[in-house]
Amino acid sequence: MSLERKVLQIIVVLFFTLSSLSCNSNGKLILAGSAAFESSGFSMLTNTTKHSYGQAFSHEAVVIKNSSFCFDFLFGIVPELNQQGSHGMAFVISPTRGLPGASSNQYLGLFNETNNGKSSNNLIAIELDIHKDQEFGDIDDNHVGININGLRSVLSAPAGYYDDEDGSFKNLSLVSGKVMRLTIVYSQPDKQLNVTLSPVGSSVPPLQQPLLSLNRDLSPYFLDEMYYGFTASTGSTGAIHYMLNLFTSLEAEHTALDISVIPILPPYPDKVSVRTRTVLAVFLTLAVIAAFIASWIEVLEEWGIQYGPRTEIFNATKGFMEKQLLGRGGFGQVYKGMLPVSDAEIAVELTSNGSSQGFERVSS
Ligand SMILES: *[C@@H]1O[C@H](CO)[C@@H](O)[C@H](O)[C@H]1NC(C)=O
Ligand SMILES: *[C@@H]1O[C@H](CO)[C@@H](O)[C@H](O)[C@H]1NC(C)=O
Ligand SMILES: *[C@@H]1O[C@H](CO)[C@@H](O)[C@H](O)[C@H]1NC(C)=O
Ligand SMILES: *[C@@H]1O[C@H](CO)[C@@H](O)[C@H](O)[C@H]1NC(C)=O
Ligand SMILES: *[C@@H]1O[C@H](CO)[C@@H](O)[C@H](O)[C@H]1NC(C)=O
Repeated sequence: MSLERKVLQIIVVLFFTLSSLSCNSNGKLILAGSAAFESSGFSMLTNTTKHSYGQAFSHEAVVIKNSSFCFDFLFGIVPELNQQGSHGMAFVISPTRGLPGASSNQYLGLFNETNNGKSSNNLIAIELDIHKDQEFGDIDDNHVGININGLRSVLSAPAGYYDDEDGSFKNLSLVSGKVMRLTIVYSQPDKQLNVTLSPVGSSVPPLQQPLLSLNRDLSPYFLDEMYYGFTASTGSTGAIHYMLNLFTSLEAEHTALDISVIPILPPYPDKVSVRTRTVLAVFLTLAVIAAFIASWIEVLEEWGIQYGPRTEIFNATKGFMEKQLLGRGGFGQVYKGMLPVSDAEIAVELTSNGSSQGFERVSS
């Protein structure tokens, strides 16, 4: 009944292939431990296995010593238990392509009991830590830290960001299951490392005020050739850690990325969520069918001549199947699709009543 009152509209938005943004030539990642690639473009660093770690490292070395750099990536942590973390994840710059001797649990897949804190590690990491470990002087169970050669951070702060409008501090929960962005910028002339955590929304420009700013020359810690990577670990409670590399540069440049599709990470796998997803998928399919009938004429006007009837969109998105779900846009759920006529990859946003959006031609 409520469906009749809700006239769903479909708009086609630019399918923003996040992975195509990556403008580094070292894009290939080498996986180890529990890490795996996802069809969404994200890498899953940990799976549901407890007390495990996962790593994804750049295939090729980068010459980062005496250089400025910028790393920008998306990540998300989906915990097994609501709002309770496992151990967390880290971005790392390491002299080796992978850290084979690393441990899980509080060692984040970065270090082990023996090498933690040793200057011979030549390793710099930004930790996204969701567990308060007294032994490493952690400030809380939801913080971002800059670590040099060990798990005791040289600088850390509770997860959040400074609002550009009024400069106020806004908390972010690392275990919210939402996709967030981490930007790491180092200027060699200024000998300054800025780390900025930001929520992901539509067309968000880079935030002005970093969460962490460390004044230190990092070059002495680096060897001539380094690798960058991502690690994560689980303990007695599970968490799935996701990452997607956006941008790598050997300049201290900030990038304004128009992330027009906000990816939604799947829930932590369990029986209940599988059932919920099935119910949602059925509901969504019914809603879409209702929408087709409701706005059939408009469709013919807008799409009929060029692409045939609207069923094309339905077919293109495989009937808005859940696995086609890309994320949430400004007006509703966004689905990935493929138009058979032109082979153009599209994103389709399902919107609720009241939106004045129409159709737009899509890019391939
Ligand atoms: C999860 O990762 C572990 C290694 O930590 C691996 O042995 C296992 O096969 C993985 N599970 C799945 C479902 O991929
Ligand atoms: C700790 O890691 C180092 C470096 O990867 C490795 O050589 C060493 O064997 C590891 N130690 C333990 C106890 O696992
Ligand atoms: C932000 O987090 C801190 C510590 O976790 C807490 O004390 C504070 O109340 C939170 N602020 C808001 C606005 O939620
Ligand atoms: C770090 O942030 C401060 C404050 O926005 C800015 O003035 C400085 O240029 C930044 N440094 C780098 C290396 O981006
Ligand atoms: C880094 O700078 C030091 C001192 O200026 C120099 O000795 C060294 O060769 C440089 N290394 C690289 C890889 O540029």
